[in-house]
Amino acid sequence: MTRLLDVTGLRAGYATVPVLHGIDIHLDAGEAIGLFGPNGHGKTTLLHTISGLLTPTEGTIRFDGQDIAGAKPSAIVAAGLVQAQQGNTLFGDMGVEETLELAAFCPRARDGWRARLDEVHSLFPRLAERRRQRARTLSGGERQMLSIGCALMCNPRLLILDEPTLGLSPRLKGELREAIAAIAAKGVPLIVVEQDVEFLIALSDRLYLVEQGEVASEINRDNAPDHKEIMDMYFGEQAH
Ligand SMILES: Nc1ncnc2c1ncn2[C@@H]1O[C@H](COP(=O)(O)OP(=O)(O)O)[C@@H](O)[C@H]1O
Ligand SMILES: [Mg+2]
Repeated sequence: MTRLLDVTGLRAGYATVPVLHGIDIHLDAGEAIGLFGPNGHGKTTLLHTISGLLTPTEGTIRFDGQDIAGAKPSAIVAAGLVQAQQGNTLFGDMGVEETLELAAFCPRARDGWRARLDEVHSLFPRLAERRRQRARTLSGGERQMLSIGCALMCNPRLLILDEPTLGLSPRLKGELREAIAAIAAKGVPLIVVEQDVEFLIALSDRLYLVEQGEVASEINRDNAPDHKEIMDMYFGEQAH
């Protein structure tokens, strides 16, 4: 297996507040990995550091053999490492299809953009139905679909999704999860943060539990926890 992403000894944080205290995670070509853990323990900070939005204070981030720690986000996206943005960062007056076309602007995304647009439309039929609608008129779930669609239009070699179903209705959550599973089934390497560990176990080859800015454990299909053990991880033994 080719190692696509290799993060070692990663430390990062905000101003004087350290959040990540030496994180080691990796992802091989074709893998989907999940991150979970209590709120406020550094998952988003880790993803933002990998995407170049935060500069690490220590450690390495190798993507396809290149050290990208501290590189500009635009250079990281151009290399094919793409984190879907939260839905509220869309340009509200732009149309849905126009937004997807614009997302294919970076050089590695230009070839085959029409075929990718068709793929995005078949993954998210709601986006096809609303292709002429302005982004600002979409519901929260549809914006989330548009933001994942934009990330796919960049022709990602690694796609990062940070709590893509947060705050959505159960029905939309289900639709999005099916689409995410379909993206993984196509072999697009994925890093997904989700609160629902059972969904993550079904989706991912491996999971990392992130606690207090460290990887507290690595879970694979052979040592996957049952429901009670998952509750214990989140809430401790007192949950019962
Ligand atoms: N922009 C920020 N400025 C200062 N502290 C932040 C900022 N964003 C997050 N933090 C802090 O960093 C820690 C980790 O947060 P985060 O990475 O968002 O956790 P998670 O995604 O696991 O919920 C928390 O203590 C949070 O308060
Ligand atoms: Mg977060």
